[in-house]
Amino acid sequence: MVCIETGRLRLRTPRPTDAGPLLAIRNSPYVLRFNPMKPWDLARMEQQVEEESHSDRVLYIEEKTAGGLIGGIWLGEDALRYGPAAFDLSYYLAENQAGKGYMTEALSHAIPYAFQKLGAQVVSARVFRDNAASARVLEKLGFTHEGTLRLAIQTQDGVIHDDMLFSLLA
Ligand SMILES: CC(C)(COP(=O)(O)OP(=O)(O)OC[C@H]1O[C@@H](n2cnc3c(N)ncnc32)[C@H](O)[C@@H]1OP(=O)(O)O)[C@@H](O)C(=O)NCCC(=O)NCCS
Repeated sequence: MVCIETGRLRLRTPRPTDAGPLLAIRNSPYVLRFNPMKPWDLARMEQQVEEESHSDRVLYIEEKTAGGLIGGIWLGEDALRYGPAAFDLSYYLAENQAGKGYMTEALSHAIPYAFQKLGAQVVSARVFRDNAASARVLEKLGFTHEGTLRLAIQTQDGVIHDDMLFSLLA
């Protein structure tokens, strides 16, 4: 079980009761607009949360004062790199919690956790070119923009996005 306390947040291992609240965030147009994900039903989400509850590479985000789930952070495999311990970072937040500095605060703890506890040598992230808020979060955390993959990803609404590649070394 992982539990990382930040000033305002708790980053913790998923629990079965998270499925409903996380589904509402994940299926929102606000999140789907900037991800290649398709909407899920509750059964699919419950299965995912069950799997993720056994992983030390998934951190759900709770707001400490209100106590509710507000988003998540995933440290997957970086499929573009071969050999190093290369983690692909993804994240999302509920729309009504955006713009408060929460994701920058969460990642400023999750990334050192990836380097120091999980042994990552490089953490990368991919951001649609038009997702200025996400690019800004990575910039604030010291990531380097390595380049842009043009016509890279089609979202479920049929729009094809350019994808900016970012990384941070240990
Ligand atoms: C991207 C996301 C994680 C940002 O979370 P957040 O908690 O709002 O981010 P923060 O408040 O820590 O920082 C956001 C920064 O972007 C800036 N910003 C927000 N909207 C912006 C815009 N449209 N253009 C330029 N900058 C913008 C903010 O001003 C802030 O920068 P600052 O601190 O220099 O003022 C959140 O909006 C989200 O979950 N979006 C939907 C899903 C998503 O895009 N996931 C990432 C996929 S790569």
